[in-house]
Amino acid sequence: MSAVLEYAKDNHDAFVSDLIALLRIPTVSTDPAYASDVARGAEWLADHMQGIGVDHVEVVRTEGHPIVYAEHLPHDDRPTVLIYGHYDVQPPDPVELWDSPPFEPTQKNNTLYARGACDDKGQMMMHVKAIESFLAVGEQPPVNLKFLIEGEEECGSPSLAPFIESHRDKLEADVVLISDTAMFAEDVPSITYGLRGLAYVEVELTGPNRDLHSGIYGGAVHNPANTLSRMIADLHDEDHRITVKGFYDNVIPLTEEERETFASLPFKPEEWLGEIGLSEAITEGDYSVKEAISARPTLDVNGLWSGYQGEGAKTVLPSKAGAKISCRLVPDQDPIEIAEKLKAHFETHVPDTMTLQFKNLHGGHPVLIDTSHPAMQAAADAIESVFGKEPYFTREGGSIPIVADFKRLLGLDSVLMGFGLNSDAIHSPNEHFGLDRYAKGIEASIRFQMEYNGA
Ligand code: BES
Ligand code: ZN
Repeated sequence: MSAVLEYAKDNHDAFVSDLIALLRIPTVSTDPAYASDVARGAEWLADHMQGIGVDHVEVVRTEGHPIVYAEHLPHDDRPTVLIYGHYDVQPPDPVELWDSPPFEPTQKNNTLYARGACDDKGQMMMHVKAIESFLAVGEQPPVNLKFLIEGEEECGSPSLAPFIESHRDKLEADVVLISDTAMFAEDVPSITYGLRGLAYVEVELTGPNRDLHSGIYGGAVHNPANTLSRMIADLHDEDHRITVKGFYDNVIPLTEEERETFASLPFKPEEWLGEIGLSEAITEGDYSVKEAISARPTLDVNGLWSGYQGEGAKTVLPSKAGAKISCRLVPDQDPIEIAEKLKAHFETHVPDTMTLQFKNLHGGHPVLIDTSHPAMQAAADAIESVFGKEPYFTREGGSIPIVADFKRLLGLDSVLMGFGLNSDAIHSPNEHFGLDRYAKGIEASIRFQMEYNGA
């Protein structure tokens, strides 16, 4: 075994301790109350990277949360890999459902429980620990490395695209490497070549100018809660197809060949359902569960409010009703166009008795990546060495909006070499990351750098 891999193995416990230190900082990007913690997270990461000997590390201020940018470019004649990740996390709510506090990392059965353990601090740190392993044994990493670690992924990366746009030269590279996706199972590795996009909107209906006594007014006043419920129910037909006019216009249909590939993947719908306490799946038309969750677009209510929510009963006819709605998008749907179509849909269906407020909150483009890219092969070889089996190539339903921007602004493809599991409970209570996978991810990052020669 090479000295580098040996170092990584021997220092596993220290690598876990470093991850724990970062996990203790509550870098929740969507809630302004955590802004100083997010800044502290960026500083910690930058100091840590400097401490392990990365040549040039900076914390870049933005209008939102800071970006950590680093470069280590020892070679004139080797390719450059741009490693992307995020140090921000989702809010920990509902905190009362955690078995251990979300920002007090807890180890149980070789698994680390904390918000961000998998998404994405644990996976991002694997690449930091990989370069550390080279430098610690007195070697240079075999490729040039640039690190772009942002603090706003979980709120749609508003500052990152402008940063990329104004630093095209600085970010020049041959490929982007990202670990922020999942594998099929503990021992079934995969490389993701497609991600869905996102259109996220908010609607609010206002009827009467104040909440009303439902006895005095009920029966003759149009109730926004009733109306919004009806409008939402009508967003899908009986085949679970979305009824918004033009919604599917730019969807590239799945080819027969793609559908065969989906059918051959080791995805077990019964297990997937069982883990979330369900026994039956609902998909659009005749699409399989795997197709429906990765290669078909969706529309889902993410939040819904109106009327009295407190203890007991209150006879009230609400003045307002609102909903947050997200659509996962597939190639070639455009997030802005979809938001406009949703707006037109709601405007057409809102009754004269009510006013509509519509907000487009944020969005991101879907991506499909060419699996014949040489870096894909290097990643597949690295994974095969670590896991003893070839990875499957797959598409996933989540979104990493900046991946489309890497292509659009820098012309770069991304290799999505993820080590999460669906069961890691990302965005949920008790998020966790298996420490075996942390070790394997570090080894895969090291081996990827050894394999990838740019050709
Ligand atoms: N790491 C996830 C994306 C992901 C999860 C991809 C699972 C593939 C499989 C990422 O951090 C995330 O949650 N992204 C958000 C983006 C949104 C807030 C713009 C998402 O998908 O909801
Ligand atoms: Zn993530």
